[in-house]
Amino acid sequence: MSTIVLAYSGGLDTSVLLKRLLLEGNDVIALTADLGESDGATGEGAVDAIAAISQKARALGAREAVALDVRQRFYDEYVLPAFAANVRYEGCYPLSAALSRPLIAALLVETARAYGADAVAHGCTGKGNDQVRIELGVRALDSRLQVRAPLRESPLSRPDAIAFAAEHDVPIAQSAAKPYSIDANLWGRSIEAGVLENPWNAPPEDAFGWTAAAQSRPTAATEIVVNFRAGVPSLEGDSGPALLAKLNILGGAHGIGRIDLIEDRVIGVKSRELYEAPAATILLAAREALERLVLTRDELRFKAGVDRKYAELVYDGLWYSPLRSAFDAFNAVSSNRVSGDVRLQLLQGCATVIGVRSPFALYDEGLATYGAGDRFDHRAADGFIHLAGLPLDRLAQVAAVAAS
Ligand code: ARG
Repeated sequence: MSTIVLAYSGGLDTSVLLKRLLLEGNDVIALTADLGESDGATGEGAVDAIAAISQKARALGAREAVALDVRQRFYDEYVLPAFAANVRYEGCYPLSAALSRPLIAALLVETARAYGADAVAHGCTGKGNDQVRIELGVRALDSRLQVRAPLRESPLSRPDAIAFAAEHDVPIAQSAAKPYSIDANLWGRSIEAGVLENPWNAPPEDAFGWTAAAQSRPTAATEIVVNFRAGVPSLEGDSGPALLAKLNILGGAHGIGRIDLIEDRVIGVKSRELYEAPAATILLAAREALERLVLTRDELRFKAGVDRKYAELVYDGLWYSPLRSAFDAFNAVSSNRVSGDVRLQLLQGCATVIGVRSPFALYDEGLATYGAGDRFDHRAADGFIHLAGLPLDRLAQVAAVAAS
C-alpha cells in the first residue's frame, strides 16, 4: 500500500482510476487544479466547479481532496515565458495543453511532499503527449517519486469504464457520452477524437465551445489597442489571467483563434487536433508585430530559430530543461525593448494588426520614405552593391572559363 497523489479532473476516467487505486488498498490524495478551464472562456465560476470536483473525490473515498487555483501561477511562470518565445508548435498550435502539464507535474510533486506520498498518478493513456510531459516534469523535479499511469498499464475502453463505474458506485455524468476529448485552460482549448479522426471530415460546429460560427459573428469590426511593457501585455488596465479571459470572450465572439492541425505527436504518430485560442492568437499577432518594429534584423532572424526550438521543447515535455532556461534568459534581454502599443482589428475570424508604435521603434521614416524629406543616401548603395557582388563576379568568371 502506498500514498498516491492522483491528478484528478472529476471526469469518468480519473474517477474510475481513483476507485481502482483505492481498491488496490492505496491511500489516495486527489489533486485538482484550476487553470481557468472550468467554463473555458471566462475563467470565472471556476471556484464552484473545482469545489464540486473535490467533493466528488471525497465521496469516492479519497483521503484528501486538494483543490488549487493556479491561474495566476500558470500565467506568470508558464504562459508569459512561452509568450516571449512566440510559441506555436509546427507553426500553428500555441501549446495551451502542453504548457499546463509541467505545472501539473510541479503541483503533483509539491502535494506529494506535503502529504508524504511516495507516488503520483495520472490518467493519461499511452498514446498521447500529456503522459510524457507529466512524467518528464515529475522526474525533473523529484526523480525519487514513483509515477503510476494505470490507464497505460491496462487501457480502459469507454464501455468498460462505464461498466466499472456502475458496478462501484462511481457517478457517471452525462458528459460520459461526449463525442470529443477536450482540454482547456486560459491559453486555449483543444478538441480531439470522434469524427475529427478522419482528416477529411470538416470540423463540426459542435466541436467549438469558445468561438462563434461564421454566421453568428458581428459584421462590425472591434478595434483594440494592446499595450506592452517589456514584453508583458495589457488591455485597458487588464493583465494576466483577467486579460486572457477578456480576450477569449472578445476574440471568441469574432470567431478568432480556430486552428485545425495535423500535428506530429511526441510518440511518433500524426494526429488531427482542433484548437480554439482567441486570446493567444490576438496576443501573438500583436507581439510579433511589435517585435518586428523594435528588434534588429539579426535579433529577429536568430529569434525565429530560438522560438521554433522553444515550442518543440515545450511540446516534447522538456519544459524543465537547461536549454529552455537559457532561451528564457535570451528572451528576457530582447523583451526589454518590446514595449509600445499595437492596434488590432477583430473581424470575421481574423485579428489583423493595423498599427504599431513604440519608443524603441527602429523604424525611421526619414530613411524609409519615398516622399519628401528622404534622408537616405542613395549613392551609398553603389559601393555596397559593388562589394556584395564581388564573389558572384568571380564565380561567373570561373564558370565562363570552365565552359570554354
Ligand atoms: N494535442 C495537444 C497537445 O499535445 C492537445 C492535447 C490535449 N490533451 C487531452 N488530453 N485532450 O498538446
